[in-house]
Amino acid sequence: MPKQIKLIVANWKMNGNLLHNEQLLNNLKKSFINYQPACKIVVCVPTPYLAQVQSLCTNTKIHWGAQDISIHPKGAFTGEISVSMLQDFNVSYVIVGHSERRRYHHESTIEVIQKAQTALKSQITPIICIGETLKEYQANHTQAVLQKQITTIAKQLGREVNRSIIAYEPIWAIGTGKTATPKYVQNIHTMLRTQLKNINSEIDDVCILYGGSINASNAKQLLSQKDIDGGLIGSASLDSQQFLEIIKATDPLI
Ligand code: 13P
Repeated sequence: MPKQIKLIVANWKMNGNLLHNEQLLNNLKKSFINYQPACKIVVCVPTPYLAQVQSLCTNTKIHWGAQDISIHPKGAFTGEISVSMLQDFNVSYVIVGHSERRRYHHESTIEVIQKAQTALKSQITPIICIGETLKEYQANHTQAVLQKQITTIAKQLGREVNRSIIAYEPIWAIGTGKTATPKYVQNIHTMLRTQLKNINSEIDDVCILYGGSINASNAKQLLSQKDIDGGLIGSASLDSQQFLEIIKATDPLI
């Protein structure tokens, strides 16, 4: 079932600084004094800023998350961040398997699933990214690639997929300004939902986001599709005005 309330997730990636983050979040908070967002809002920020975001966003409409998690509870894993460290900052979401991590850090789908399981065990919602490359898209392999990814996720996580979020991010649309058309994404999301349910009939409540060059101008059309439960926004989430426009694009009254 598609979700009633849309979810808008910012992925700041490796951007921001103390001043910029504060201005951005304060601008959003100010806008929410007079405007009640129709969607749920999450900002996934670089790890050093989790404390800042926690302090600025506690008891506001803005939830926060991290961009990665280690599968290990603690120990000699230089540079990695454990689930208990995320819990220290009341993190409730974590992105796992973003294509940039799969590409630059060679993360496999199995490792991504282990990360999702680690988060789920600690009541942190994993946002599991899937998507096809430009080469696969051009060769008409999108469906096969996605089915393979989603099948592995469904088989390994089972009904826990209902407590996770799937983000469909075609790699050719990330940071390129090229967006998949609303109809294309709608069809992919329907296919994903059907496939999940076919594999496990208990998977019937999954939230599926779209990500890839969403901006203030294309958000309304994309987010009004029935099976697009929300968006995972990169560069447009770094500008409070643009991000606010995207948030407003989920509002049926606007
Ligand atoms: P852009 O919105 O910058 O294309 O990034 C999408 C993305 O990768 C979000 O995770």
